[in-house]
Amino acid sequence: MYNLLKGKRGIITGALDQNSIAWKVAEKAHEEGATFVLTNAPIAMRMGEIKALAEKTGSQIIPADATSVEDIEKLYVEAQEILGGKIDFLLHSIGMSVNIRKNIPYAESNYDYFMKGIDVSAMSLHKMLSVAKKLDAINEGGSVVALTYMAAQRTYPFYTDMADIKAMLESIARSFGYHYGKEKKVRINTVSQSPTKTTAGTGIKGFGDFYDFADAIAPLGNADAESCADYCITLFSDLTRMVTMQNLFHDGGYSSTGVSSEVMERLAGE
Ligand SMILES: NC(=O)c1ccc[n+]([C@@H]2O[C@H](COP(=O)([O-])OP(=O)(O)OC[C@H]3O[C@@H](n4cnc5c(N)ncnc54)[C@H](O)[C@@H]3O)[C@@H](O)[C@H]2O)c1
Repeated sequence: MYNLLKGKRGIITGALDQNSIAWKVAEKAHEEGATFVLTNAPIAMRMGEIKALAEKTGSQIIPADATSVEDIEKLYVEAQEILGGKIDFLLHSIGMSVNIRKNIPYAESNYDYFMKGIDVSAMSLHKMLSVAKKLDAINEGGSVVALTYMAAQRTYPFYTDMADIKAMLESIARSFGYHYGKEKKVRINTVSQSPTKTTAGTGIKGFGDFYDFADAIAPLGNADAESCADYCITLFSDLTRMVTMQNLFHDGGYSSTGVSSEVMERLAGE
């Protein structure tokens, strides 16, 4: 280990079970010397295994619904009390679409569900940043990372409303990155991750086939949750102190590859 986060304090959202990307980020952040609190929606506390992660990493859990400004305020106040100072890093690892869950085709999206998806998966980043700025809860040079997917740039029919929602998430990271950067040098980036076998990922129709397709296109293959966590750690560290307002692909080269010889051969039936 490199002690990249020695002395840093953080908030990690979204660790539901051992497959969660946030779970791996928490393990790595702990290995790299950070102290942090874990948070998730109250319902996820009952269903998930977050307590085991808290024990393993010596962290406390603060339940918070990421759509509630009141919960987020409480989260920052309590996190700073527990950790003994302002926050240096924040991981936004929150995604949920009721339209996807209910298998509703994109063109027939239910708008109440659409709004819920926006609130949970994109607006929550704005709320977490806005409350942090208001409470001055993040140290100068602090780093915020939100996880996203390439459907924000290119169409993946099965990703339905989450494509639009991720586009909004990435835009919030850019827009807020300007304001928070000017005022406090706080950095905000999104990491655009390969398909990953998690609860949120595998809930998407046709995920298995698509996972294999992406793996066959990417020269390095799909990036797994653990390597995603490593990348997030570098973004929380001071080594990336001038990187902000970026959407950073972490996908084994998938986003820059038109087609691979492997896929061509499969199509030709070789
Ligand atoms: N799995 C993939 O293929 C993939 C690819 C690219 C990006 N991502 C993104 O990574 C992030 C993490 O997802 P994951 O794949 O680790 O799946 P996951 O299901 O383990 O994590 C999603 C988390 O969001 C939390 N959440 C949902 N509603 C919430 C609310 N109202 N308040 C607070 N938390 C809430 C869940 O409890 C869960 O912990 C998501 O933003 C997802 O879109 C995933």
